[in-house]
Amino acid sequence: MQIGVFNGVNLDMLGKRNPEIYGGISYGELETRIYAWAAELGCSARCKQTNHEGELVENLHEARSWAEGIVINPGAWTHYSYAIHDALELFDVPIVEVHLSDITRREEWRRHSVIEAVASHRVMGEGPDGYRRALSILTGTE
Ligand code: DQA
Repeated sequence: MQIGVFNGVNLDMLGKRNPEIYGGISYGELETRIYAWAAELGCSARCKQTNHEGELVENLHEARSWAEGIVINPGAWTHYSYAIHDALELFDVPIVEVHLSDITRREEWRRHSVIEAVASHRVMGEGPDGYRRALSILTGTE
């Protein structure tokens, strides 16, 4: 199973940005863990991070030809990007929305997700391990 793991705006700053909220590991370390978890769960992951909304949209369009499952943490775009919502709507494979922090327990503006409506599952507040959980949901090994 081929899984596309997409991280959006500011997630390249992991480890430097509010480590008490998002954890102390870097984005590179997160990718390393995701590839190891994928191998352990018997699937193949392709990770991409971008700070450009249009690039994420194009990456999602491209993934339509190969992805059998999607894991996405859009960062702040979660809360207002209908463009990313619409790009995700084009998939007929399962989509897991992941957040390192529990957005339902943070500032009011973070509690609403425009992605939620197109996500088959949501994982939040589990830090980096949430990505492992997302992969296990998609591979049916939870
Ligand atoms: C986040 C939560 C968002 O509100 C925030 O803008 C992020 C990261 C999370 O993983 O907890 O960039 O998606």
